[in-house]
Amino acid sequence: MRTLAGKKILLGISGGIAAYKCAELTRRLIERGAQVQVVMTKAAKEFITPLTMQAVSGRPVSDSLLDPAAEASMGHIELAKWADLVLLAPATADLIARMSAGMGNDLLSTLVLATDAPVAVSPAMNQQMYLNVATQENIATLSRRNMMIWGPAAGEQACGDVGPGRMLEPMQLVEKCEQFFGPKLLAGKSVVITAGPTREAIDPVRYISNHSSGKMGFALAQAAQQLGADVTLISGPVTLPTPNGVKRINVVSAEEMHQAALANATCHDIFIGCAAVADYRPLDIATQKIKKTADKDDMQITMVKNPDIIASVASLLESRPFTVGFAAETQDVEAYALDKLQRKNLDMICANDVSIAGQGFNSDSNAITVYWQGGSKSLGNAMKTELSHAIWETISEQIA
Ligand code: PMT
Repeated sequence: MRTLAGKKILLGISGGIAAYKCAELTRRLIERGAQVQVVMTKAAKEFITPLTMQAVSGRPVSDSLLDPAAEASMGHIELAKWADLVLLAPATADLIARMSAGMGNDLLSTLVLATDAPVAVSPAMNQQMYLNVATQENIATLSRRNMMIWGPAAGEQACGDVGPGRMLEPMQLVEKCEQFFGPKLLAGKSVVITAGPTREAIDPVRYISNHSSGKMGFALAQAAQQLGADVTLISGPVTLPTPNGVKRINVVSAEEMHQAALANATCHDIFIGCAAVADYRPLDIATQKIKKTADKDDMQITMVKNPDIIASVASLLESRPFTVGFAAETQDVEAYALDKLQRKNLDMICANDVSIAGQGFNSDSNAITVYWQGGSKSLGNAMKTELSHAIWETISEQIA
């Protein structure tokens, strides 16, 4: 029962109605052996009193950056160093925006800047505020900075709306903390992931490519690293920062990605092909920029097939990794995904319908159904960061 014994959790509460659940959350964390230090924003105190939080946590609540008495006991830098985990619950749209902008205009946001402890963010707000593009971009920014995004849940909200934005229930947050501190799902495993697009040169200034941003593959790499795996990420040309602790190999063309994949596949346990690889490349690459001519209104480029990277990995006879593909489809998603599963000899395939706005290419969320021989699992629509954890759980269940 004392699954969190000795763990120091700094619980940051911002001003949302879900703040009232923090008393229960704190009690359940302490019941499991955690030490909980509560930090509240000014607005949070409108929803639950510091006295209540002091009573349940057994510690004075910190709420001011500029209070000499508070700084004399446990100052903001000491608080930031004390924590094994910073849990922000509820994290309002305002707090998320301030963190995304790197602001330190109250104790809680300053602590987030000053800590080197892992930070978990549990968003809680009205569904329209959550879906607002500004909030979505802010959450994606925090996620790219390696903060863990826990939730939100969807359902009926305090304001009467129905949709995503409810804070996870206290026991769900406790379970997330237990998973975070517990044995890691991918401990001892090594994984290689391809991500992003490939570029197939036409001449020195032009290329053929696609809309992949790399977000899905990078989210898978980040999640695998957080789950304890040794991660190698083979990335096409994208503008994303490398997730902490991940080894990155940059490539440009499908042929380069093929070589990097084959060089790495046999020394890893799991291979995921998330990259959107160009199926064809120009047969000849012009050595000089192709010039527009006055006499011709059309132009032909002869294309040749690129190697099928994931099929090459899946057909390895020795040291073949558990091989997971992706299927980006615009119609008949299940049928095409199952066909690729068989034809490319994969162990699993993650199918996404890229014709639906707001998912697939270059979006922060996605909806995936995973297929394997004789089974499937729909993982629903979620942020790519959250979805990646669900994909790893599904892969782990199949490997076990
Ligand atoms: O990068 P994002 O913007 O986040 O977008 C994510 C995504 C839509 C790119 C991702 O979720 C996805 O679906 N990736 C696979 C895209 C794709 O190329 O699908 P496909 O159905 O054409 O290919 C099937 C599988 O074969 C994929 O695993 C692909 O990596 C692999 N393949 C394809 C061609 C080729 N020559 N070699 C390959 O290995």
